[in-house]
Amino acid sequence: MWGGRFAEGPAAVMREINASIPFDKRMWRQDIAGSKAHVAMLAQQGIVAAEDAAAIDAGLDAVAADYEANGVAEDLALEDIHMQTEAKLAALIGPVAGRLHTARSRNDQVATDFRLWVRDAIDQVLGALAALTDALLTRAEVHADAVMPGFTHLQSAQPVTLGHHLMAYVEMIARDVSRFRDARARMNLCPLGSAALAGTSFPLDRAMTAAALGFDGPTRNSLDAVSDRDFALDYLTAATQTALHLSRLAEEFVLWASQPFGFVALSDQWSTGSSIMPQKRNPDAAELVRGHAGRIMGCMTSLMVTMKGLPLAYSKDMQDDKPPVFECHDLLGLSIAAMTGMIASATFRTDRMRGLAESGFATATDFADWLVREAGLPFREAHHVTGRAVKRAEELGVRLDELPYAEFEAIDPRVNQSLYDVLSVDASVASRTSFGGTAPANVRAAIAAARESLR
Ligand code: ARG
Repeated sequence: MWGGRFAEGPAAVMREINASIPFDKRMWRQDIAGSKAHVAMLAQQGIVAAEDAAAIDAGLDAVAADYEANGVAEDLALEDIHMQTEAKLAALIGPVAGRLHTARSRNDQVATDFRLWVRDAIDQVLGALAALTDALLTRAEVHADAVMPGFTHLQSAQPVTLGHHLMAYVEMIARDVSRFRDARARMNLCPLGSAALAGTSFPLDRAMTAAALGFDGPTRNSLDAVSDRDFALDYLTAATQTALHLSRLAEEFVLWASQPFGFVALSDQWSTGSSIMPQKRNPDAAELVRGHAGRIMGCMTSLMVTMKGLPLAYSKDMQDDKPPVFECHDLLGLSIAAMTGMIASATFRTDRMRGLAESGFATATDFADWLVREAGLPFREAHHVTGRAVKRAEELGVRLDELPYAEFEAIDPRVNQSLYDVLSVDASVASRTSFGGTAPANVRAAIAAARESLR
């Protein structure tokens, strides 16, 4: 490509360190699309003759057909997907192929290709997150009033419903979706026509190429367009946040599938056995989703560190932008799909959840609230009285709702029999009707709203 200036070819290791074809071949579709848009514009602007542009366009289709059928060869001498495609084009249509690179540099070319690739990646993630949301909503609907212990400090705190718990993740994923959408909208400007760094003297129609590639318009500053990768970092940070949410959900499944919890049984398809312990059913998918989150964060960190010290405009360091984004995308895609499959097929042991919710004095707050409401105690005093009732129940080895009335009366004479109305876990969750609370009616309304916005 630059033979005019050089007498010798590169050293073998130079060739190896320089080449990006082993990974950027993944962008061949975007590279072809960018070139087709570019040559159509060059023809319209009279920069390349119409018949040459037609030959180039047909040639690019033939290259694409060859890539589709045979894959992209990893010829290190051809360095990257841009040079590989141009060389293939020249082999097919001859020297006229050389007109394609008029008013273009690999710098605006790669910035365009990569934006297109990341934009497609976001669309895939959005589709996958919609499927995960659907799976969560389906399970939340069935278990909208299944009582389970809600935890703080992983200690039984107050009863909630399983539907409410699953809907918490629906909320997190909805925010993840909005982060990906924001990133997509922000990145949707076309760098093509920025050339190497300074723009070009050719009379381009940048709005035309931008529109042909589905961008909202051209980027406004050529230096910025060829040298920034914040669109990729937007993707990676959104992916990291999503992976973090998935990791917390995965962790819950690891806990819930354990024998001490016993809240969930994973289906055979989503469990693994042990080579030595025949009884084992391990939640490997959940553990790997948890593990992948760490790798996804590593991908984000990798590109941030690559970019942090680079002066304008393009530097070859930036070629290292693609491997972490590709790796992140593969890991995230697998993680979302695994969580979706695991959740859709899991069996929730709601009897076990209820049993635990009933055994941990989880309705103590309800009794304290009752003392405030019905007996007029200040909450701090009610808290103290309730603490004594819990202590007494613990001594007698009974649940709070099994504590005899005489015991309550001995602790505080201001009680009456209606206190028992608030001590059941069902009464507790049903009473949590504040907006966003766990009352089954609230949970059903939240599910309906989420279903609506998913549509
Ligand atoms: N393979 C390069 C990359 O991915 C393409 C851009 C090369 N530009 C240059 N000035 N050497 O970044």
